[in-house]
Amino acid sequence: MDRLERRLTVAFLLLLPLLSISCAAHQKTTVSWCVLSDAEEQKCLDLAGNATARNIRGTLECVRGEDTKDCLDKIKDGKADAASMFADDIYAAGLCHGLELAAGESHNGEDGYSYYVVAMARRSSSDLSLLEMHERSSCHPGIRTTVGWTVPIGYLVNTSQISIGEQCNFPRAVGNFFGYSCVPGVKDVQHDPKGNNPKNLCEACIGDDNDRHICANNPRERHYGESGALRCVAENLGDVAFVKHSTIFDNLDGKNQESWALDLEQEDLKLLCPDGTEANLDEFEHCHLAAVPANAVVVRVEDKCRVWKFLERLQNAFGNANEGFRLFSSAGYGKSNVLFDDDTHHLQRVLGSYTSWLGPTYTTVLQAFECEGFC
Ligand SMILES: *[C@@H]1O[C@H](CO)[C@@H](O)[C@H](O)[C@H]1NC(C)=O
Ligand SMILES: *[C@@H]1O[C@H](CO)[C@@H](O)[C@H](O)[C@H]1NC(C)=O
Repeated sequence: MDRLERRLTVAFLLLLPLLSISCAAHQKTTVSWCVLSDAEEQKCLDLAGNATARNIRGTLECVRGEDTKDCLDKIKDGKADAASMFADDIYAAGLCHGLELAAGESHNGEDGYSYYVVAMARRSSSDLSLLEMHERSSCHPGIRTTVGWTVPIGYLVNTSQISIGEQCNFPRAVGNFFGYSCVPGVKDVQHDPKGNNPKNLCEACIGDDNDRHICANNPRERHYGESGALRCVAENLGDVAFVKHSTIFDNLDGKNQESWALDLEQEDLKLLCPDGTEANLDEFEHCHLAAVPANAVVVRVEDKCRVWKFLERLQNAFGNANEGFRLFSSAGYGKSNVLFDDDTHHLQRVLGSYTSWLGPTYTTVLQAFECEGFC
């Protein structure tokens, strides 16, 4: 045996007990997937049928959950084994339910990031720094969205610009901090049951052509969503918009035919970076508030290996199929992103903990929300 071979053998012998603990051969062979809609249930059943038809080892079952929280409870209680979840829910799954991840989506074929959250401003706004946003005006795609709420508010709490206090009343703290804003949906009864959320969180909203639906959590509010938040800054109502790095490129060069977008040029805007500096729009990889991870498959800790092995067999059979069942396509189910994101290039194994998948910037901003009642 040469040195390398010997080292590999030793490494293998050291790893053997670990492997057998986490992926024992005698474990059960059924994986039950928690699904939330008719579309998900149908795709799950089609996948199960096709896997059986192709003699893939293991059996897929589909269990219907009422909502994400119900799926988390079912997985924890052993009534389901796995479900695909998006970033905010993964944090709750790990922190509040002690669950972990078996696999995650890669969209670019290299890493597990889905997009960057950036702070965008007009280039002509001088004197603007992300470290001093007090009394400024802000445009957010929507209440309780990752890009428009979780990440920017988490960043402002982490940098001690916003203090949440003992009441854990985030809208009030945000309303006290900014001069005025557009946070579509912030006055909706489901997000504001007592009607106390500050009015200034809707003052940069414009509603529809007839001044109706102001602050609505839907496209009738013309400052709703990522392109609406961009419009809010382009039209000079807000100093800063919290959007995805890709939002600007989706609205330039005639891709958006509305007049505000046709007038817009890349040179008119800039990014504000977390260290207080600014950057060009294409420098989002080093000037962002957080890198948001793609969806991942939540499981019990002891199932990490078993569920990954099963998913690996499914993706080998159906991941790049040109005909028949296709794992990363939602065609025929009446919706997009059913079970997995349609942009998924492949599923990658998650060996580390759920926080390793969420990544340092995103985990930090989420920590700001660990207030009373989070779990
Ligand atoms: C395989 O998947 C297709 C949809 O792609 C579905 O129509 C078909 O019924 C599935 N086959 C089995 C045996 O479930
Ligand atoms: C959170 O705050 C700490 C200390 O101020 C800082 O070092 C870290 O970069 C911040 N994290 C994010 C995601 O902004």
